[in-house]
Amino acid sequence: MKRDPWPSAHGPVLCVVGARPNFTKMAPILRALAAHDPVVPALLVHTGQHYDADMNDRLFVDLKLPLPDINLEVGSGTHAVQTAEVMRRFEPVLDAHSPSCVLVVGDVNSTLACTLVAVKKGVPVAHVEAGLRSFDRSMPEEINRVLTDQIADLLYTTERVALANLAQEGVDASRAHFVGNVMIDSLLANRKLAIPPEESLRRGGIDLTAFDIAQGYGVVTLHRPSNVDHEAALGPLLAVLREVSERLPLVFALHPRTRTNIERFALTAHMSSKRIAILPPQGYLEMLGLMAGATLVLTDSGGMQEETTALGVPCLTMRENTERPITIEQGTNTLVGRDVDAIVREVDAILAGKGKRGRVPELWDGRAAERIAAHLAGWLARRHARMDTE
Ligand code: UD1
Repeated sequence: MKRDPWPSAHGPVLCVVGARPNFTKMAPILRALAAHDPVVPALLVHTGQHYDADMNDRLFVDLKLPLPDINLEVGSGTHAVQTAEVMRRFEPVLDAHSPSCVLVVGDVNSTLACTLVAVKKGVPVAHVEAGLRSFDRSMPEEINRVLTDQIADLLYTTERVALANLAQEGVDASRAHFVGNVMIDSLLANRKLAIPPEESLRRGGIDLTAFDIAQGYGVVTLHRPSNVDHEAALGPLLAVLREVSERLPLVFALHPRTRTNIERFALTAHMSSKRIAILPPQGYLEMLGLMAGATLVLTDSGGMQEETTALGVPCLTMRENTERPITIEQGTNTLVGRDVDAIVREVDAILAGKGKRGRVPELWDGRAAERIAAHLAGWLARRHARMDTE
């Protein structure tokens, strides 16, 4: 039996994306809101934090994301400028659309900026991927996570440890809900559509007769400011990648921040090897294919630690800590930091067949967005019912 439609007086859910990792998380949520009965009306707001074809457009196409209803076009800037611009431009959007709630994902500057604006205007905020903590406050994302979770109304988590982290910070348990991992919803929905690695390499202009991946290859991504913004960190990391490439050919998808810094620090020579294929930032389906076919992944990304765990591919994370500990405890992830000896040792172990196999964590089952839509719709309906009787 069809239930009553969503009352138009209750306003849409404003779904906010800003940077690349947000897109993967939002795609299944938008689909689940549309598939819910009754349909939960949603508007997609893009802050414009990422804007390039490589960082933005290709992912929208791959993930079948609708074009944003509203684009704030903030672009790049310092943290203060970027955060402030998002806030300034988001406020009139809230005034114009009277949303029933704002839904934010992840931990980028856009996540915190929109949360701050909404909460101060009395609009409830739902945060997807809440409660993750690296306990490293020098990471800009950690600040964004802690502050967003303190003030958002609904906190949807990907792993149980996130609930404990929130409780530790004094967050009332009634606000937090363990729903699973929407990024894995995207992965499972797109697994069969992944682009074969050879195809992505060919598209990137790599000559496959010279760069032979028949015996396996590693995938590399690197973009954290702590790894790439200082020559003293980036130089040795590139040198060890070069060393690893002598054992295993490497496919390096280069983030714009990293590309700029390699040029700025005159480190391009480290990368000029027949056994290192440099590609631009990859689309979602290309990266999925590259990761799925890889012998190992070397990264400082947050999301790829989870994606490799879901794919069962060993991941060496070039960070001192992770906000996603389940990928270490249950998955395929190992922290290697910038310790060059550890990196080489772990690569050798994987090549010797001793890589972690792991298992897929609880509720990483492709249905997290469905659970979020069901919970959010119920919560909003109860809230509106309360407001109507007041
Ligand atoms: C941001 C997120 C980070 C996320 C990453 C994924 C914050 C604090 N950081 O970092 O959590 O893991 O996105 O990529 O929100 N640039 C382009 N084209 C673009 C976007 C950026 O060339 O489309 C360049 C600009 O030079 C810019 C730099 O990349 O200054 C950094 O972009 P920014 O959005 O500030 O941070 P990311 O390093 O991408």
